[in-house]
Parts: sequence; structure tokens; C-alpha cells
Amino acid sequence: MASIPTSRYFITLIFIALNFKSLYGSSFYFKNFGKDSNFSSILALYGDANVTSDGLSLQLTKDLSSSVGRVIYKDPIKFYAGVPKKMVSFSTFFEFSMSKSGEGLAFVVLGDGYDVDRFDDNGSFGVASGDELKFVSVEFDTFMDDKYGDVNGNHVGIDVSSFVSLKAVNLSRVGLGLDSGDRLQVWIDYEAGSRRLEVRMSKFGENRPVDPLVFARVDFSRIWPENEGFHIGLSSANGNSSQLCNVYSWSFKTREAPDWMHSEPLDPIVYKDREGNEIQNHKKSDCVLRILSALILGIGLGALGSFIGLFMWTIFANRRPVAPEEYAVKPKPVVHDKALANEKL
Ligand SMILES: *[C@@H]1O[C@H](CO)[C@@H](O)[C@H](O)[C@H]1NC(C)=O
Ligand SMILES: *[C@@H]1O[C@H](CO)[C@@H](O)[C@H](O)[C@H]1NC(C)=O
Repeated sequence: MASIPTSRYFITLIFIALNFKSLYGSSFYFKNFGKDSNFSSILALYGDANVTSDGLSLQLTKDLSSSVGRVIYKDPIKFYAGVPKKMVSFSTFFEFSMSKSGEGLAFVVLGDGYDVDRFDDNGSFGVASGDELKFVSVEFDTFMDDKYGDVNGNHVGIDVSSFVSLKAVNLSRVGLGLDSGDRLQVWIDYEAGSRRLEVRMSKFGENRPVDPLVFARVDFSRIWPENEGFHIGLSSANGNSSQLCNVYSWSFKTREAPDWMHSEPLDPIVYKDREGNEIQNHKKSDCVLRILSALILGIGLGALGSFIGLFMWTIFANRRPVAPEEYAVKPKPVVHDKALANEKL
């Protein structure tokens, strides 16, 4: 009798478990760029970028002025996944050094329309910027450019389609020098639910800092409502200096949040871009449905639990009294004579 509801709960559990599955999209990790790394099957070099003679790092710029170079992940990354489509989260880590003051380095996310082979003298880090060009970047800037309102010649900034940073931080304050020649580590994490882009940095060999150095809210779906493929890269330019920029390692990973864990956008306009309000409503009803089914499952499991409890209790309750009853039934010796009774004791 109990097997029918149990199997139904089991099926529901399997269904829920399937929803947990997390799809891993793009990922790579290069500890170095030696021959064995076979990085060129995955990464493409442009401009002056080349592998150093020791074969261990990528040198993005040359020891000459106006040198530009970049490394791009060849596969376009799908930053949107699922139906209805939602942004995936990603993390990247890399190590670099810059020999002296110049323009610096930038981690860039370029949309489908961007020609990855295009370099622009007017743009910083070799990245062309203009009204029609969209990009998201984290700049490691060693040049104080008044045109972009830079704080100094040693800062990290988060940029969206303009090198006037959304947020920037003075690295001298935390004891890091971009142009020191030191090998530095960078962690960039994007959490799609909160649309938060975080940047952490430390010197080579030190741990990943707990607190981000700088973070900003970056809404990819607003920047690129249509695009589905993106290119990520590291781009560097040295301006009129002879700054060398070396990249020692690089990893990247996207992760799709489990369906049930989606969070509603803080800003509802996000979903207006393409499908209008409908997608928003759909998402909401979808969410309500999930909460409801979770509730029903919870209540169901509770009921099943109580049912089992009751069942067990009934078994034990029916069994336990058997022993005491025996004693109860046992006729008590009737003692007529108190003295006799005392003697027996
Ligand atoms: C950056 O930080 C350093 C060290 O604390 C300080 O001397 C300098 O004035 C700061 N620069 C700006 C523009 O705040
Ligand atoms: C190039 O050099 C000149 C003169 O030293 C300097 O004023 C200018 O800011 C430099 N530009 C860049 C992009 O480094």
C-alpha cells in the first residue's frame, strides 16, 4: 500500500536531482606556455604577441615603442545558457608582469561583432573603443591618462565599452606595483546571479585574497542583448614606452548555476531587451512553480515521514505491551497472613 506514494516521491526526487546538474561550458588551464602545453590549439596570438625563448611565458609586447599584442581564446564562449536563456558565471586566473611604465594590460571580453585581429592606436591596451564597439575589460593600467580620468599610473579598473572606468582602485594603496617587474596574480570572478564582477590580486606565491580589490555590477545582458558568442583575451600595448608585458599562466572556466538557483534580476529592465515583459513573467511564474513544487515535496516528505513514524509506532505500540501485560496478568500472591508473608521475605 505504501509503495505507490513512495515511488512517486522517488520519481519527484530524481526529477529534482536532475535539475541540480550543472553544465560546464568552456574551460582551460595553462600553467605555462611551453611546447608541451599545446596552447596554440586553444589560444591564438595577435600583433607582437609571442612565446618567450625559454618557452614558458607569453610576451604580449616587444621591447619597442608602439608595440601591441594579445592572446585570445579561439572558441567563442557562450555566456548565455538554458531556456529561458540566462547568463552563466565565470572565473579566470592569470599571472603577469610588466617591466616598466607603459600602457598596461587588460583582460577583455569582446562581443561577436568585434574583430579580434583589430588593433587601434587610439584605444588603450590595443583595444579599439568607439561608439559602435562594446567590450568589458579589467584594466591593469600603468599610464595616467587624463582623457580617461585615471587616478594614477598604477591602478586597476573595471570598464564597460569605455576606458573611463566604472570603478578603479589605486594599487599603491595595497602595496602592489604594476610596473615593478614583479610577477602578480589576478583572479576575476563574475557571478551571474548578482551580476557582480570581482577582481582580486596578490603577489606571486601569495594566497587568493578573501576580499575583492575592486568590484562592479556589470550586466552583460544589457550590454549585449543579442549576442551569444564572446571572445575573451589578454591585450597589451606599450604606447611610447618599451614596456614588456609577460603572461605566465592563464585559466578560465564558465559555470552554469543550477536551474532552481536562478535569482530574479535586481533590475527588471534586463529582460525587456528582447522578449519584453513576457520573459520576465515567464521567469516569475517558473520560479513560483518551482517554489510550489518544492513546498509540495516538503509537505509530502513530511507526511511520508509521519506515516512511517505512525506505522513504526503502531508496530511497537502493539508489541511492547505484550511483556508488561504478562506480568499484569500474572496473579499476585494474595497474602492473607501478614506474619507468614514477612517470614517468606
Ligand atoms: C595612491 O596611494 C598611494 C599610497 O597610499 C598614495 O601615496 C597616493 O597619493 C595615492 N594616489 C591617489 C591618486 O589617490
Ligand atoms: C609619450 O611620451 C610623451 C613624452 O614623454 C608623454 O607626454 C606622453 O604622455 C606619452 N604617451 C604615452 C601614451 O605613453
